Parts: sequence; C-alpha cells; structure tokens
Amino acid sequence: MEKITRQMKVNKDWESAPPPYPSGWYGILESMCLRAGEIRNINCLGQSLVVYRGERDCVYVLDAFCSHLGGNMGVGGKVIHNGISCPYHGWLYSGEDGRCFQIPYGQSGSRIPMNACVKAYPTLEMNGFIYIWHHSNNRPPAWQPEAIDEVQLKKWTYRGRSEHYVNVHIQEFHEQGTDLYHLTQVYGPSMFAKSDLRFLSKWWLKFMFHDWHGAWSRDQERPHVGILKQTHKLLLFGGNYFPFMDFEAEAEQIGPGIVNMRFSSPSGSGVLVQSIVPIKNTIQRLVQHIYFDKSTPTFIAKLFLYHQSIRTERDIMIWNNKKYLNHPILIGTQADAGIKDLRRWYSQFYDD
Ligand code: FES
Repeated sequence: MEKITRQMKVNKDWESAPPPYPSGWYGILESMCLRAGEIRNINCLGQSLVVYRGERDCVYVLDAFCSHLGGNMGVGGKVIHNGISCPYHGWLYSGEDGRCFQIPYGQSGSRIPMNACVKAYPTLEMNGFIYIWHHSNNRPPAWQPEAIDEVQLKKWTYRGRSEHYVNVHIQEFHEQGTDLYHLTQVYGPSMFAKSDLRFLSKWWLKFMFHDWHGAWSRDQERPHVGILKQTHKLLLFGGNYFPFMDFEAEAEQIGPGIVNMRFSSPSGSGVLVQSIVPIKNTIQRLVQHIYFDKSTPTFIAKLFLYHQSIRTERDIMIWNNKKYLNHPILIGTQADAGIKDLRRWYSQFYDD
C-alpha cells in the first residue's frame, strides 16, 4: 500500500483527472467480515468510518470520529443494542441517525448539545457486501443496487474471492471494459503467461490464445447502469478444443463502484460480484467474489477465478503506471468509440 502511494506521488499527475469520489453506492466491507456485535474501522472515500452490526443483524455505518474529542469509535468502541459507544468517555450514538443520545457523566436533566452527532450513511446489505451511499453534496440516494436472486436465495454457492489495491482513477477501472482492443492485446495471451506484461509473448505459450469480443451500451431504463457484453473462447493452435472454458458474460456497471458480471458456459453459470472503492484519492480497493451454480466442480470455479485474477493483474500493471488523460486521442473505430461513450455516461456521477 505504501509502495503504491509513493509511486502515485512520483510518477503521476492527477490534476486533470475528475474528482476522486464520484457519487453512488460503494461496497465498503464484505458481509462475512462483520459478525453480530462486531465493529470495523474502514478507511475509504477519504474518510474514516465505523461499521458495526447491531441487533437483528442490522448494519450501521457512521463517521468514526466522535464529536466530543475525536475518539475513534471503530477502535475500541462498543455496540450497545443498535448504538455504539465511544471508547474515550463513553458517549453513546444512535446508528440510525448518528445522534449522541447518552453522555454517561452528564447532569441529570441537562440537554445533550444538538451538534453532538456524527454523519450516518444510508446502508444496504446484499450480494455479500455492505454498501453505503456517498454523495459529494450529501444528497439522499437517487437509486439503489439490486439483489442478485441466485446469491441472496443461495441457489449459487460462493467459491472464492480476490482482493487487489490499485493506483488508478476509479473511472479508468470502468473504461477498461469498453476498451475493446485491449481485450485482445492484454487479455489475449495465455493465462499461463501470468500477469507480468513483459513476459506475455513467450514463444512456448503462443499455442494458446484467449479470443475476446465485447460491446458496451447504456441501460435504457436505468440511467445509472452500463452494460458490457463479452464472449470468450480458448483457442489452442488456432482451434477451439476446450469449449468448457468458453463463456458469455454480461456485466452490469451499477454506478461508480459496483460491477456484477453474470456468465454462462458449458461448465456452469455464475456471477462475479465486484466492488471498487476509492480509499484515498486514486488508491482503489478491488474485491471480487465468485459464485457458481452448485453442480459446477470446484476446480472449474477456481480456474475461472484464477483466470479473472490474471486479467485483473495485467490491467493493474497498466493502471499503476499510466496517467489519466483528459483529452485522449481516440480514433474513430469501434474499438475506441466505447471509451468516449463510457466517459459521457460516467460523468453523471460527478456533482462538483
Ligand atoms: S472523545 Fe468520544 S466520548 Fe469523548
């Protein structure tokens, strides 16, 4: 993390980039990382947050720093019913609205100051993640992500996760999906060449190639959703001999930080649930969960996740070392057209 941050300072000029925290829902924590009564201190969106699970499994997210003297409630705080108490002097806050409603040493009958409160975030829990609504002008949610039925109803089973830290503007994470020629250039070489871009063209790996095609469009009914369709075939010596590795995918880009990619292949169907959250400025945390239908053998699911991670890490090598161009030179082919469309669509999430 420290190394990535240093790299950003040395190599990159972010002045021309859009604001780092576009407005929308963000999956800030995985549900499995927060049991009943537990508290987590999460740094994201340039803030320090406290996330806790109260009674009846409800999750609450507040600004972590207590309004009394700045104690961090995410470190040593205590869950009391649906509230949280500060570890420093015990002020007790409501998870619903962030107001302090009890001061242990207050005079009986004295009023609690009106400004004794912290920001409470609109929160949702679904698809294995805890999501919060962030708006740069503090407006209420304009839309909501939707539950994935197969995940919520446990028709598909969780098969694994990956986590990466990346130094790139969050918008560029989405741009890569519309960048059609990079599908061939970066994702094409064999997954066994792994992720270091310098070694993708080894001669002994040329017998294998991943043939990708894609198209991006806006969802006509949900303005906050972009749709990316992709197909993949695994070619060996130019022929398609392992069709169990072929798949068709449809990824929904839901606002600035959520991507749910459904896929189907001869070996099974599933979904990749991705959460991209800016931690501070252009440092992003990318977490991916993969679910498959119950009949798919585990090794197939692991192979898909491995392949996905290799693709991600190849992109990361590009992202960590590139700069953001406000006015890129895009030529008039279909391959570059999607980037322009994506930027127009994504601009709706900037309110400044
Ligand atoms: S700093 Fe939190 S109660 Fe005093």
